[in-house]
Amino acid sequence: MKEGQPKAIELSEYRVPPYLISTTELQVDLNEDVSYVTSTLTITKNPESKSDSHDLVLNGSVDLDTQTIKIDGRELLSNEYAIEGDQLTLFSVPPSFELETNVALKPQENTALEGLYKSGDMYCTQCEAEGFRNITWYLDRPDVMSQYRTTIQADKALYPILLSNGNEVARGDAGAKHWVTWEDPFKKPAYLFAMVAGDLEHVEDHFTTMSGRDVTLQIFTESHNIDKVDFAMTALKNSMAWDEKTYGREYDLDIFMIVAVESFNMGAMENKGLNIFNTSCVLARPDTTTDAGYQRVEAVVAHEYFHNWSGNRVTCRDWFQLSLKEGFTVLRDQQFSADMGSETVCRVADVATLRNAQFPEDAGPMAHPIRPGSYIEINNFYTATVYEKGAEVVRMIRTLLGEDNFRKGTDHYFDRHDGQAVTTEDFVRAMEDANDADLSQFRYWYSQAGTPVLDVSDNYDEAAKTYSLTIEQSCPATPGQDDKQAFHMPIALGLLGADGQDIEFDIDGVDVAHVITDNQYTAVLNLRESSQRFVFSGVNEKPVVSLLRGFSAPVKLNFDSSRDDLQFLMQHDSDGFNRWEAGQRLAVAVIQDVVAQIQQGQTIDIDTRIVTAIGALLDEAVNYNQQNHSAGGQIDKAMLADMLVMPAEAYLAELTEVADVDAIHTARDAVRLLLLDKLQGLFLSVYKLNQSSAGYQIISSDVAQRGLKNVCLSYLMMSSETEAIDLCVAQFESADNMTDTGAAIRALINCPAEAAVAPREKALTAFYERWSAEALVIDQWFGMQASSPLPGAMDRVKNLLEHDAFTMKNPNRMRSVVVSFAFQNTVNFHKKDGSGYEFLADRVIELNGINPQMAARVLSPLTRWRKYDAERQTMMKAQLTRILDQEKLSPDVFEIASKSI
Ligand code: TRP
Ligand code: ZN
Repeated sequence: MKEGQPKAIELSEYRVPPYLISTTELQVDLNEDVSYVTSTLTITKNPESKSDSHDLVLNGSVDLDTQTIKIDGRELLSNEYAIEGDQLTLFSVPPSFELETNVALKPQENTALEGLYKSGDMYCTQCEAEGFRNITWYLDRPDVMSQYRTTIQADKALYPILLSNGNEVARGDAGAKHWVTWEDPFKKPAYLFAMVAGDLEHVEDHFTTMSGRDVTLQIFTESHNIDKVDFAMTALKNSMAWDEKTYGREYDLDIFMIVAVESFNMGAMENKGLNIFNTSCVLARPDTTTDAGYQRVEAVVAHEYFHNWSGNRVTCRDWFQLSLKEGFTVLRDQQFSADMGSETVCRVADVATLRNAQFPEDAGPMAHPIRPGSYIEINNFYTATVYEKGAEVVRMIRTLLGEDNFRKGTDHYFDRHDGQAVTTEDFVRAMEDANDADLSQFRYWYSQAGTPVLDVSDNYDEAAKTYSLTIEQSCPATPGQDDKQAFHMPIALGLLGADGQDIEFDIDGVDVAHVITDNQYTAVLNLRESSQRFVFSGVNEKPVVSLLRGFSAPVKLNFDSSRDDLQFLMQHDSDGFNRWEAGQRLAVAVIQDVVAQIQQGQTIDIDTRIVTAIGALLDEAVNYNQQNHSAGGQIDKAMLADMLVMPAEAYLAELTEVADVDAIHTARDAVRLLLLDKLQGLFLSVYKLNQSSAGYQIISSDVAQRGLKNVCLSYLMMSSETEAIDLCVAQFESADNMTDTGAAIRALINCPAEAAVAPREKALTAFYERWSAEALVIDQWFGMQASSPLPGAMDRVKNLLEHDAFTMKNPNRMRSVVVSFAFQNTVNFHKKDGSGYEFLADRVIELNGINPQMAARVLSPLTRWRKYDAERQTMMKAQLTRILDQEKLSPDVFEIASKSI
């Protein structure tokens, strides 16, 4: 691909489609050797198009073997059309006509998993973003919306179940084959088309909508997995009820289907009425699935269901608008998860994801606004920025407007744009129009990349009883954007008095969006200037400020809090998120001290405030049990568990200019070891107090208890004492659920003690034998080994690749080794000899020929070379160059590699 490098697509070049397709009829004939797709399209010139060309260019793929092309029933002569690569041009078409094409294709050879492909024994499709063009010639863009009628024909014995979008309207037999016709009454873009053929079982349930309609709910899997869908079904019903209550959104078809497939590039896909899920995001059973796995299933089921309105009923005009549906839908699934469990725990997890995944992206060579201005391969833009930062941006609109006004805005948006393909601008305008609000400056969040930095200083005037805050905002340069305009953002803050209570200060004359007064006193400030001063009066004592409550804006905050103040906030802040945040900031400061000591060759001397702070949390956990779970004002156990965890190495790296991976790893471990050394008795007590003999339940109090216990176990297993190892082995052997089994074996795998070697080998063998038939458990088995920080990881990982159960072709399996190593095993991936970099480049080159979308994703750790020392930079860049030198590089990999070098 070195000559004729792929071309970038620009937002500024958007034009309305020259033609429209009102109806789409597909006849799909599935066979083991060659399958056929006949498509009949009703095409008319788009009256809104200014193009005066009479030629029609359709999207396709080089893998489509075109058999016939007919216009209004007449087969075209070879001079009436041209096929060049992935484009079909029809010369001088009439203003309105019927186009029939017939193509042959081989889904069984499709390893890219885009378009029509085989996952194991079943056929399925993935059409977002531009997969439909691999199935038939089409105007494959989301602003071309069409009504679909689909007939699938296949061998009756091998594929008894034939599914597509909408309602089944006819079926019949044809020799050894049978066929089923589906009709979707809703117009949709091609990316929402789906079909499935397989030998599947299903579980069925029903939901009565708010207007009293009965909806049939079905979840399909291969027979060996049908015992793992009950939780997803409950999550689906909860999602349907929640969207009615929270957003007034009712489901529209009479049937909603989910199909679980083993080979899938991403998490799941919101095809109209026929969601297709990665098995990892729908299957759950206590003995195979961790609590985190359950939470992921609940969130993804909700996310895809919510797309029915935010994505399907109102869809995207073009792929630059991707965050219109993804950012908004992520916010919706975050709100749902918060309502199903603990708001604070969810917020902590969401912010951690943002910081560990999105902040580095926004600081790297692929940084892009949530509405990108240009792309080569759209699959590369399904990013943490579009999804997670996109959700933060919509969340800020909600914070600025307040919950009720936000709902007015979303009602107006859905009402005004139902059935349309729209832009993020339409979304913002609906918010403004419904509330008579002005979000003009706020719009920079859609067009400017980079994580803003807030430098904050404060002052208390004893005599005047005023407290003032000066906030300066800046945003680092990102590719193509050197200078940034100031953002409009909500700054939620509270002031704590010496008694730990919120002070009710006076906001007269301050630019405040609103004040929140339920069990707290929080003012939401409008920050708009690059430097802005806020002065609050009626502050009768020197306060401790709690800034950015609930993480009200996705920024990096620089504010010099004393470590005493952080400890105070940890204990008293009425905002749960900021209690966690204060603990993290204290831990970051303490770990950074140690990093500096290591770098300067000094002896390690750890600030014992961290011991006091963590000790206080453990005391709270001990007392928690004695008070029998019910005392008010306590942090819940899930929060305690979160607060005991030291900041991730990825986040610590993100906070420094040049990430010293080895020093960070050593320093973090040194702090953890000190905590164990000083608090071993407490860790053990909390561990024991939270053991449970009751059977496994996926309810939040039990999840919290297991979380707390297993955090303690991970500390206890830093020691080399056999007592801890025995405890861990006992948990491994007696647990009735994967949360506890997994935590125990993980702790054994990560344990540096010599005494852990034999029990570890024994546990790994037992685990593999016990679960060899459960693909999702074997993925975990690979993943925990590949992410172990113990030395020698490269050899272990290479051995895993040789394992019989390993394959690069299944994305879950590939990720379980390659992603676990390169993304989660920082010390080993960045080993000074460069072996990790070479290994990853080898995998990218291998995957490039199998599944370009996955290859491009896996590449991203190499693109972050600017974060590391000169030697590592050189080695990382050399691997990027080696990748770029490959013949036949996919546009996916080319875009990421070339933009990052
Ligand atoms: N729209 C999907 C979501 O819910 C994302 C997705 C699923 C996807 N499969 C994909 C995107 C394949 C690109 C390619 O977020
Ligand atoms: Zn989505």
